[in-house]
Amino acid sequence: MQARSDLIRHYGKRIAFVPTMGFLHEGHLSLMEEGRKLGDELVVSIFVNPAQFGPGEDLEAYPRAFERDCELSKKKGANIIFAPDTTELYGREFQTYITLEKLPNHLCGISRPVHFRGVATVVTKLFNIVRPHVAIFGKKDYQQVLVIRQMVNDLNFDIEIVGAPIIREADGLAMSSRNSYLTPEQRTSALSLYQSLEKAQTLVESGITDAAKIAGAVSEFVTSHPETVIDYIAICDSETLADMQTIDRPALMALAVKIGKTRLIDNKILSPPH
Ligand code: PAJ
Repeated sequence: MQARSDLIRHYGKRIAFVPTMGFLHEGHLSLMEEGRKLGDELVVSIFVNPAQFGPGEDLEAYPRAFERDCELSKKKGANIIFAPDTTELYGREFQTYITLEKLPNHLCGISRPVHFRGVATVVTKLFNIVRPHVAIFGKKDYQQVLVIRQMVNDLNFDIEIVGAPIIREADGLAMSSRNSYLTPEQRTSALSLYQSLEKAQTLVESGITDAAKIAGAVSEFVTSHPETVIDYIAICDSETLADMQTIDRPALMALAVKIGKTRLIDNKILSPPH
């Protein structure tokens, strides 16, 4: 892969990169479309990264569909699909990790303490192997985009990071490879994440700007659906992820909810009232 990238660079072409864990859906494909626009060659990686799963999480169960993923990626214009296996990528004695000091102390980093260390480490490795000019990440994983941007700045990676919009099902559910775990009843409960973000914006527009009040209303709404357990509901600064008390400027509202055994996330930027 490095040799291929060197050759592409030698010819003065731009490499766009979309890292994924596979089981592709329209969310992933939208990143590839963006990548096609931003580079001459599009590299897609497919790798279920063990380092970003904690003990008891769904590493073994994570859905896989490699042949289908390859076809979909090619259709979207991917020139290269990079899909290493775990020992190939990590070797036998791996011991170097990338950790961030602040951003992981919020939102998903609290209930998933090794997650962002795993993400930052694998993305660093992939960047060093793929050598892209530009890499595209979805805002569905909002905190992940911030972590990658911070890491790229801190460590002087010469790579442009692009954040792309959340792609949703027709009814609003954010697309996720993990949606495939849901039973039809759980699928209905899962919709409460999106609906609660819309509800929050409506409350803000009606003049309620107290973050605790909005989070309370959202919490009540989500838990009124069967099989839901809230991990977090946060209204916070969209750059630092520090909690906000009043929505007097655009704020990130982010939530993580377990529906049965499936943990789902979603987010939205809440605009303050006019
Ligand atoms: P994965 O969950 O497969 O997601 C790959 C990329 O697709 C991420 O940038 C994610 O934000 C984006 N994505 C997922 N669902 C989306 C949606 N509904 N709309 C828009 N974009 C969406 O995120 C990872 O893999 C991994 O952490 C990875 C970055 C590959 C490192 O292992």
